[in-house]
Amino acid sequence: MTFEDKIKLLLDQRAQARLGGGQKRIDSQHAKGKLTARERLELLLDEGSFEEFDMFVTHRCHDFGMEKQSFLTDGVVTGYGTIDGRLVYVFSQDFTIFGGSLSESFAKKICKVMDMAMKAGAPVIGINDSGGARIQEGVQSLAGYAEIFERNILASGVVPQLSAIFGPCAGGAVYSPALTDFIMMSKENSYMFVTGPKVVKTVTNEDVTEDKLGGAMVHASKSGVAHFVVDSEQEGIMMLRKLINYLPSNNLEEAPVVPCTDPIDRLEDSLNTIIPDNPNKPYDVLDVIHAIVDDQEFMEVHRHYAPNLVVGFARFNGQSVGIVANQPKYIAGVLDINASRKGARFVRFCDAFNIPIVTLVDVPGFLPGTAQEYGGIIIHGAKFLFAYGEATVPKVTITLRKSYGGAHDVMSSKQLRGDINYAWPSAEIAVMGASGAISILYGKEVKEITDAEARQKFVEEKTAEYENKFANPYNAASYGFIDDVIEPRNTRFRIIRALKALATKKDTVPPKKHTNIPL
Ligand code: HXC
Repeated sequence: MTFEDKIKLLLDQRAQARLGGGQKRIDSQHAKGKLTARERLELLLDEGSFEEFDMFVTHRCHDFGMEKQSFLTDGVVTGYGTIDGRLVYVFSQDFTIFGGSLSESFAKKICKVMDMAMKAGAPVIGINDSGGARIQEGVQSLAGYAEIFERNILASGVVPQLSAIFGPCAGGAVYSPALTDFIMMSKENSYMFVTGPKVVKTVTNEDVTEDKLGGAMVHASKSGVAHFVVDSEQEGIMMLRKLINYLPSNNLEEAPVVPCTDPIDRLEDSLNTIIPDNPNKPYDVLDVIHAIVDDQEFMEVHRHYAPNLVVGFARFNGQSVGIVANQPKYIAGVLDINASRKGARFVRFCDAFNIPIVTLVDVPGFLPGTAQEYGGIIIHGAKFLFAYGEATVPKVTITLRKSYGGAHDVMSSKQLRGDINYAWPSAEIAVMGASGAISILYGKEVKEITDAEARQKFVEEKTAEYENKFANPYNAASYGFIDDVIEPRNTRFRIIRALKALATKKDTVPPKKHTNIPL
């Protein structure tokens, strides 16, 4: 073979690898409204930046006639590239080759990029579209999954790991994405479940469709497995690029700071009128968030799950922050099991990756009731508390309105190492709201007053006394639990200054093998 022939052979093989499982299967992928593994990477990475590894890898299976069927790449496209110039490692499962199912060779390819990402300190982005374990390979496939799981675990908190689910993801295969930091699902074609509808029918006699069992909206709103749900793969891929921009490449770096054109001393007059006079009336905390962050840009995480708590990424003066805010618009912003899990996970992510946390508080307390107690609100609430208390990143807290009871302590209070705690003049910081407090403190006296008018007058007087003492921020401020009471329209400027003052903050936790967070 001449040198020229050898080059031709290389180019032919490359072309063949790029065809995956062949044009017919690519057409079938497109017919389902799905992009191919390579098209996804082309959109994800900066143009021309993708360097592929292991194009010539094939499987080693000789059972079930597999020796006669072999495809270059073996069903997963792996390598590295850049997003806005920053290095990321990627793998993209190719459904056109054995349904993207995972073989020993396939798993080794993923492990290779994960190992390299750890050494380089770069994020890993995995695009999932797979029929699960390669059935013909059996236990080797299971071992391959476990190799990946172990790397997911060791990489956790070291490099950001993002998962997009753009097709099937079933059985034990779900646990690799579940071990990563964020999961995105496309609305039309993706599903995730531990056992599919047929097994469900056999075991529980329940009739359920794939979508109802593990579709994107199910995981975005009910289970909380999916952090993001997107209408199309294209939208999802753009979102992954955006998300990467809020994050550092690893736990030893800071998130990139971008130039900020939004004036840092911008006064937002609308905030001086946003809180209704009636404390039981809601408002939308998203309006507050949009008003204070750079250019009104807020990337909400877990939008459909536990909407009583809002979490997501934004920037102040170009610096990436995590925002955690109670949402009075939804069940009065109360903390329940789901909100606690959501908040704890987000706070821990920010802390692991050096992203300061800005907390906006308007919380009437924890949700009472048997459903919550039986579901373990004690443990789940403790998670959120633990996450805040453990976090050593800069923590800036603004109490907008209510901050009652245990929920007050949880929401980045001073005693949980909240660094700078401000309150609006509308803040009410107390053990509980006035009506609950009066019924407990004066219940007996109230019952003893037989005249209705006199009873009403007594309750009103005691309520006014309680509100005067506690329905304000000044009592907490008199103890130094609140550092200053600020005018709402100044909030953006005060947060930016606080973050600047905290930029060099150092705090630690005592040395230990690891914490024992109440899981
Ligand atoms: C080998 C597979 C495969 C698999 C699909 N294919 N899944 N090959 N192992 N797990 C192949 C098909 O034979 C077919 O090959 C091609 O991929 C496309 O599959 P279709 O069935 O034609 O596609 P579609 O109708 O879209 O259905 C997709 C599917 C279905 C829902 C994923 O293929 C399916 O149910 N697959 C099996 C899923 C499964 O049970 N996996 C094991 C789960 S347990 P051709 O040659 O026709 O293109 C598991 C354990 C992990 O994953 C444990 C980790 C700890």
